[in-house]
Amino acid sequence: MKRFSIIGFPLEHSFSPEIHNDAFIANGIDATYSKIEIKPCDFAETIQSLKDEPGWNGFNVTIPFKQSIIPYVDSIESAAKKIGAVNTIRVEQDGTWIGYNTDYSGFLSPLKNYINNIRSCLIIGAGGAARAVAFGILQSAQIERLVIVNRTIQKARDLTDSLKIFYNTEYEVFSLQENISARQSFDLIVNTTSLGMGSLQNELPINPESLINKNTVVYDLIYNPAKTILLSLSEKVGASIINGLPMLIGQAEESFRIWTGKLFPDDLKQKWLKQIP
Ligand code: ATR
Repeated sequence: MKRFSIIGFPLEHSFSPEIHNDAFIANGIDATYSKIEIKPCDFAETIQSLKDEPGWNGFNVTIPFKQSIIPYVDSIESAAKKIGAVNTIRVEQDGTWIGYNTDYSGFLSPLKNYINNIRSCLIIGAGGAARAVAFGILQSAQIERLVIVNRTIQKARDLTDSLKIFYNTEYEVFSLQENISARQSFDLIVNTTSLGMGSLQNELPINPESLINKNTVVYDLIYNPAKTILLSLSEKVGASIINGLPMLIGQAEESFRIWTGKLFPDDLKQKWLKQIP
């Protein structure tokens, strides 16, 4: 039997085991997918023991280890290297670990019908998820203007500095406190922060009203709640909206493809879209 697991902290709310175990059964693959919650202080020791333990076929890596896992992989695929984050590991037959980033293609999967019309993009946040979003959109759309807003402006500057190495476009950064509402609208607005989720459920990361036109897509990476206050307000003023669920499923499907060469059956995807969270 093949063995896969997600590693991260905390993992109590992760849907990945449910998704992958359903998909293994549906594809007739003899495999299991478990959760390994690792306290950050135990990270190095636990990862080393997983590397030394035979019988693993792959891992998903989630918050807060997507960057700290990099020294432990034996090779890293080019997109993951550019992004600076690994969320999927394939264990080869000789025990070597190959690191991939599937957040990037998962993020792009629900944008297929919009991507050719996206020229300007506003990203809220500058953490690990924002890096995958920024590289994904610059790689796939003809971006003429990319604006990043973040609570800590220096992190937004650091992100644009690493993007500039690969992509030549117009970049601007703002802090979350600055008012960018008087500026032009955007074709795509992406929230990558946790504003709108959990204890921050009533927080709006930015006021979208003056940033939206009739073609704007507002994409919130949060999937619980299914409609954040950013998404409901954006929908009210005429934007198309996308929540984080298609990305959750898209990144899982790409990991599954890397491990098994197979895709998720459509009926399972439809089931998850209805059932999660
Ligand atoms: P992820 O991998 O999900 O992106 P992360 O790397 O910890 O997680 O990044 C979290 C992002 O959400 C950051 O942009 C963070 O802003 P800072 O760079 O200023 O820390 C943002 N964020 C988290 N909590 C926030 C809050 N309460 N208010 C504003 N921004 C917040």
